[in-house]
Amino acid sequence: MNFKVTPWEVKGKIDYDKLMNEFGIKPLPKLPKQFEENHLFRRNIIFGQRDFSRIIDAINNKQKFVMMTGLMPSGKFHLGHKIVADQIILYQSLGAKIYLAVADIEAYNSRHPNMKELQETAIKEYLTNYIALGLKPKNCDFYFQSKRSKDAKKANAYYKLAGLFARHATFNEFRAIYGELSPGKIMASLYQASDMFHPQLEEFEGQTPTAVPVGADQDPHLRIARDLGTRMKLYNFIQLSSTYNKFIQGLRNDKMSSSDPTSYIALTDSIEEATKKVKKYAFSGGQPTIDEHRKKGGNPNIDVSYQLLKVFFEPDDKKLKKIHDDYKSGKLLTSELKSILIEKLTNFLKKHHENRRKAEKEVDKFLQN
Ligand code: TRP
Repeated sequence: MNFKVTPWEVKGKIDYDKLMNEFGIKPLPKLPKQFEENHLFRRNIIFGQRDFSRIIDAINNKQKFVMMTGLMPSGKFHLGHKIVADQIILYQSLGAKIYLAVADIEAYNSRHPNMKELQETAIKEYLTNYIALGLKPKNCDFYFQSKRSKDAKKANAYYKLAGLFARHATFNEFRAIYGELSPGKIMASLYQASDMFHPQLEEFEGQTPTAVPVGADQDPHLRIARDLGTRMKLYNFIQLSSTYNKFIQGLRNDKMSSSDPTSYIALTDSIEEATKKVKKYAFSGGQPTIDEHRKKGGNPNIDVSYQLLKVFFEPDDKKLKKIHDDYKSGKLLTSELKSILIEKLTNFLKKHHENRRKAEKEVDKFLQN
C-alpha cells in the first residue's frame, strides 16, 4: 500500500475504499434529513461509520445522546480542524450533550512538552474558534485530560475508568493496532478510551448512545476502545458510534499540517495572508497554458481551490456542479476559480474574525467545570 494512516502519521495518497476494508469501517447508511442537509455528509466527506445507526435511532426517537470528541492542541487552528468543529456544532444543534476533551496529556507525551503553552493554545486557538463558529456553553462539557473536573466525584470516575481499562487489553493487541509502542502511546490510548466512555458513567450522563466524530486516523483508538468497553463488565456501556471524515488536502497538495504555514489557511490568518496563500500556493488542477486549458480542461478532483469550495465554501450543490463542469471543460480558468474561492474565503474570514472578538469574551463560560 502506498499510503499510511495511523494516529501518529498520515501520508501518501489515501485510497478510502481500501482503508475502509482494512480498518473495517462501514459506509454511511441512509441518513435522516438533518444530516443530508449538511454538505459534509451529503458529499461523502464524512465517508464512513461504525454503529452509527444507534445515533440515527436516538435522533428519530428523540432520545438523549452524547457527542464526544477530542483535540490535540498543537499550533494554529486551520481549515483541516474545521471539519470536526462543524460537526460538533451540528450535533449541538440536534440536541446532543457535547463532551470536548483537550488531549493535553496525549500531546505532552507525544511531541509538545510545554503544558502551559498547550493549555493556552487550546483556549486561544481551539476553544475560541469553536465558539466563533457557533459552539454554545449550554450542554457543553469542555475539559482538559489533565484536569477533568473540580468535582472530585466526576474527576475520580474519569481517571478510575482509564486505570481500570488497562486490565482489559494485552500488549500484543496494542502492538498489533499501533505498531511501535511507548508508555506514552499506551497511556494516550487508555485516556482516549476513558474520554469516549466516561460520559456513560453514573457520575456523568449514565448509559447513553455516544457519537464520536473523528478523522480517519483515529480509528485505531476506536477499535481498542470498543474492545475495552465490551470487556469491562463492571459497567454496562452502550457501544460507541463513530463517524470518519476524509483529510483535507494541504494547499500545496500534501497534508494540511500545523507545522507548515504554507500548507494551511488558519482561521486567524488575515484576509491578505489567506488571499496570498491561495494565489501563491493553492495547487492547481489546470493546464500550464491558457490555450491548453481551454482545449483539455482542468481536473477539479486534484485542484485545491475546488476542493476547498466543495468542503467548506460552496454548500449549494448546483453552483458547485457548475464550477466543477466549467473547470473540467476549460471554460473556467484557474485564476477565475481562485477568484471565486478568494471571494468566499474573504467573506467567511471577515465574519469569523468579528465573531472571534465576541467569542473571546465567552471563553470563561466554558471553563467552569
Ligand atoms: N487522539 C486525538 C487526536 O490526536 C485526540 C483525542 C483525545 C480524541 N481524546 C479523544 C479524539 C476522544 C476523539 C475522542 O487528535
